[in-house]
Amino acid sequence: MRASRLYLDNAATSFPKPPGVTQAMVDYAQNLGASAGRGAYAEAIETGRKITECRQLLNQLFNGQDPNHFVFTLNCSDALNLAIKGLIDPAEKSHVICTAIDHNSILRPINALQERGWVQATVVPVDPQTGLVDPHDIRKSIRRNTCFIAITHGSNVTGTIQPIRAIGQIAREHAIPFIVDAAQSAGHIPLDVQADLIDLLAAPGHKALMGPLGTGFLYIRPGLEKMLRPLREGGTGSVSEHPVQPLFMPDRYEPGSHNAIGLIGWSEGLRWLIRKTIADIQRHEKELIQTFLDGVSHIEGLRYFGPRGVRNRIGVFSVLLETYEPIELSKILENDFGILTRPGLHCAPHIHETIGTARTGGTTRFSFGPFVSREDIRYATDALARIAETRLISR
Ligand SMILES: Cc1ncc(COP(=O)(O)O)c(C=O)c1O
Repeated sequence: MRASRLYLDNAATSFPKPPGVTQAMVDYAQNLGASAGRGAYAEAIETGRKITECRQLLNQLFNGQDPNHFVFTLNCSDALNLAIKGLIDPAEKSHVICTAIDHNSILRPINALQERGWVQATVVPVDPQTGLVDPHDIRKSIRRNTCFIAITHGSNVTGTIQPIRAIGQIAREHAIPFIVDAAQSAGHIPLDVQADLIDLLAAPGHKALMGPLGTGFLYIRPGLEKMLRPLREGGTGSVSEHPVQPLFMPDRYEPGSHNAIGLIGWSEGLRWLIRKTIADIQRHEKELIQTFLDGVSHIEGLRYFGPRGVRNRIGVFSVLLETYEPIELSKILENDFGILTRPGLHCAPHIHETIGTARTGGTTRFSFGPFVSREDIRYATDALARIAETRLISR
């Protein structure tokens, strides 16, 4: 067993964070400690400036039209709740489109709206081998009253990257808001809200965007705020004489004190990403993917899901090893090799039905990050090979 544990659960949250993230948080806690927009003194003003910087970095990274249209949220689920529920008018029974590869943070808000009788949903199937959605199937599902199309960009189960630009084109042609869950793609692959025709982009700060837990955002295409209802109201530190939530951005969607410490740490993570470039991160991740594929291709009894090569995929691999329950495999990986993985359904139930792992206890998931090396991946695939050999001898 190696000296240090090998963290391969970056799809849950990234670890470690880039240098500077923790220090920025400590500096804020020791030297500022104020709440933005809640005081006229220098510390409160400086905290507000630092929070604005975080929006500017996001605007730069995703080619947004206005930093104030990046609304801060608790995480990606919180952002998706705002996008999904904010677009629904209970008085009109609307139709919505999502897909079989989506995470529960899209499916559950939609299911909750369905239970109340406020929407009808079409769940578009995906290819069982690749996990890809056919944009034509999305087009065929559109109805006169379709009020949004939502999709998980990078799958947290199969690693599949969806053709969002083609789907965005279809949505734009029909003037239907297009919601993208970028929980597993933001920070891994290039994303451009304008070129990709995204109306509402949701992402966590704490995964590949390299921030701490408790951070996330929803990008709202300018103009869409006129139809997106806020889910929360309260103090904004601005226009306090107004009895209702202000209409201007980002205050329309940001009642209450900000997670200043988290956002200030997140800015350091974003600066690190911008300096390193997403292209460089993607190149490294492709090398890790190829190393994993080479390492597992000859392991008898091992199956992995999603695209076969490096194309159309991120560094997320779900595997099944014959005769092992996913939870059992994760435990052996941890106890005998110090490798940290995630077993189970990964909050995405439909895709396990599609790939046939709903009744096997799901899969064991390996997910990579920028601090994982090719040697780390070789160590992980060698561990899988050794476990597979032991199984052949002992079972
Ligand atoms: C595809 C996908 N969407 C949404 C989420 C939810 O992210 P968060 O935990 O930031 O709410 C996850 C989390 O794992 C995810 O993998």
